Amino acid sequence: MSGWYEKYYWRTGFKSRLYDRLTPESYLESMRKVVALIPDKQGQKIWDAGCGTGLLLLYLENAIKRGLIYYGSDLLSAGLNQVRTRARNLRVSDRVACFQNDITEAPVFKENSLDVVVAHFSIYTIRENHKRQQALKNMYQVLKPGGLLIVCCPSKKYDAGKIIDESCELLRARRGLLQMATKRMFFYPVTKRLGLDFIQKQLQSGQWMAYTREELTEEMECAGFEIVHSETVYAGGAYLKCGYKAIMSV
Ligand SMILES: C[S@@+](CC[C@H](N)C(=O)[O-])C[C@H]1O[C@@H](n2cnc3c(N)ncnc32)[C@H](O)[C@@H]1O
Repeated sequence: MSGWYEKYYWRTGFKSRLYDRLTPESYLESMRKVVALIPDKQGQKIWDAGCGTGLLLLYLENAIKRGLIYYGSDLLSAGLNQVRTRARNLRVSDRVACFQNDITEAPVFKENSLDVVVAHFSIYTIRENHKRQQALKNMYQVLKPGGLLIVCCPSKKYDAGKIIDESCELLRARRGLLQMATKRMFFYPVTKRLGLDFIQKQLQSGQWMAYTREELTEEMECAGFEIVHSETVYAGGAYLKCGYKAIMSV
């Protein structure tokens, strides 16, 4: 059952739209933090590597309307279909392109061609260390010198209960008591049961990668990045790190 669940987990979530509907507020907060770290420069090109349904577009809408160009890629076409629909609904389709690819294989972008790469909760599901490392190397290769990688990955302190609690607090502060109570009663029990508990089990069993702060730094540095920012997000259950590709790379 677990093998089947793992194989079809994202695809079923994307197709049914449950992935978007059940996303906890704390996860969206992590995306807001990612977007806040993207330098505000005209005409930048950004690659959302392992973009899922393109939730990140929700927070990039204004930047795209000001000239940012967004590329989203994922293994699964079910997610990419949602990205296209989302881009149409946000009226940013002319600056959004998405395509199917495996981030551990040869990159489709030219070397030194992108300004920013975001890997928000994507590389941790790649089980083999050497493949995750290859994915990070591919991101390094396609970034311009001075380009920025923003990575977010679960930590060993991932705790489904804490993520729900933090999501409720965030919702109460942002949207008020009624919204929070509705989510807490009707949505978040399903989020926890179908999503977060399963992810926690995958992390604890080593099927997916739960990082220490040092392990994530080491993987990024091995790929060539110079770490410039590190913080804890997702109720203490994930690390958000930024690394630059040095301007004088050798
Ligand atoms: C937790 S979802 C995150 C999606 C999105 N970044 C977000 O934050 O909503 C993980 C995504 O990584 C994608 N993924 C995993 N391994 C991949 C690979 N080798 N190449 C491309 N995408 C991959 C999955 O298909 C899935 O869409």
